[in-house]
Amino acid sequence: METKIFTTKEIDQAAVLLHQGELIAFPTETVYGLGANALNESAVKQVYAVKGRPSDNPLIVHVSDFEMVKDYVTDFPEQTATLVNAFWPGPLTMIFNVKPDAFSKSVTGGLKTVAFRMPKNQQTIDLIQRADVPIVGPSANTSGKPSPTTAQHVYHDLQGKIAGILDDGATQIGVESTVLDLTATDGVPVILRPGAVTKEQLEQLIGQVRIDQHLISDKEAPKAPGMKYKHYSPDVPVWIVDGGLDVFDKAISWAQQNNRRVGLFADEQIVAETKERVSETFSFGQNSVESATKLLFAGLRTLDEKQIDVILAQAFPETELGIAYMNRLKKAANQKIIKKDSIFE
Ligand code: TXA
Ligand code: MG
Repeated sequence: METKIFTTKEIDQAAVLLHQGELIAFPTETVYGLGANALNESAVKQVYAVKGRPSDNPLIVHVSDFEMVKDYVTDFPEQTATLVNAFWPGPLTMIFNVKPDAFSKSVTGGLKTVAFRMPKNQQTIDLIQRADVPIVGPSANTSGKPSPTTAQHVYHDLQGKIAGILDDGATQIGVESTVLDLTATDGVPVILRPGAVTKEQLEQLIGQVRIDQHLISDKEAPKAPGMKYKHYSPDVPVWIVDGGLDVFDKAISWAQQNNRRVGLFADEQIVAETKERVSETFSFGQNSVESATKLLFAGLRTLDEKQIDVILAQAFPETELGIAYMNRLKKAANQKIIKKDSIFE
């Protein structure tokens, strides 16, 4: 199959294909999604097949407005209206109790709940409206690889496997939406995946929110199946560097003593100070967690194509957006961190 790149002038064409059950990748403010008609079971099954995604990991259903959600949900918790008004369209996914048989098991992973999100991208809102059906949309990457933040990343992973990609340039935020479970029996909402909508922002509006980031073991019931799998990993091993230039210096020396060619993912200042000594660099620009988050997946993908043996990637404090950034980076690094007082062998 030939994968067509649709411009934003060709949304009608893409919407017809989507409605008919073809797979179309779409832009959002977070990452690119792999779209399929959520009401068409064979289309949804294709999503798992082309991504190579474990089939018990449920999907997010994307809508063009809140009205669209109402057909599929049994009851809305009291916080819903406040959250929709504050964060939709935007990077907040909400989990509600689903009406029996509203979606196939392939969408919900057999759970009694379903995740919804209204992305903040006008082209995609138009696409969903014209397709006139809710759209499932996992990140449009091969399962386990860094999520795509450009149409080219999607093309790299899925060319020949999907009908098309709606191209609207690079995404703004760079990591996936905050996933908030509103179905806990004690009424306290739980963040299952941190994103650009932070715990602090949520608590200001709706009171207490819990955050649950633990990696569940294979034996545990998959309450949030996404937690179970190692994610976002390039092929080249990643080490997080938690500290300034002095810690980068130590980490670079250590890698080179072990004959490893180094690729660096860091801010412009660290890159400028060290680039003579390493094989490859990817600067995310100014020293801010927003810039680092926006370019994290692009950086990992770019460095992964180079002739290097290790990626050293800059840490940020785990507050606000830093929680989401470090959540992805730690998964990419399989939790490996170099700190000021690390002992090098
Ligand atoms: O920003 C995003 O959310 C992107 C863009 C494309 O919208 N989409 C995305 O989808 O990241 P995906 O499928 O890669 O991630 C969905 C996450 C998974 O961690 C999954 O386990 C969780 O949401 N999830 C979905 N439905 C759930 C449910 N009913 N209960 C618990 N977790 C659920
Ligand atoms: Mg994903």
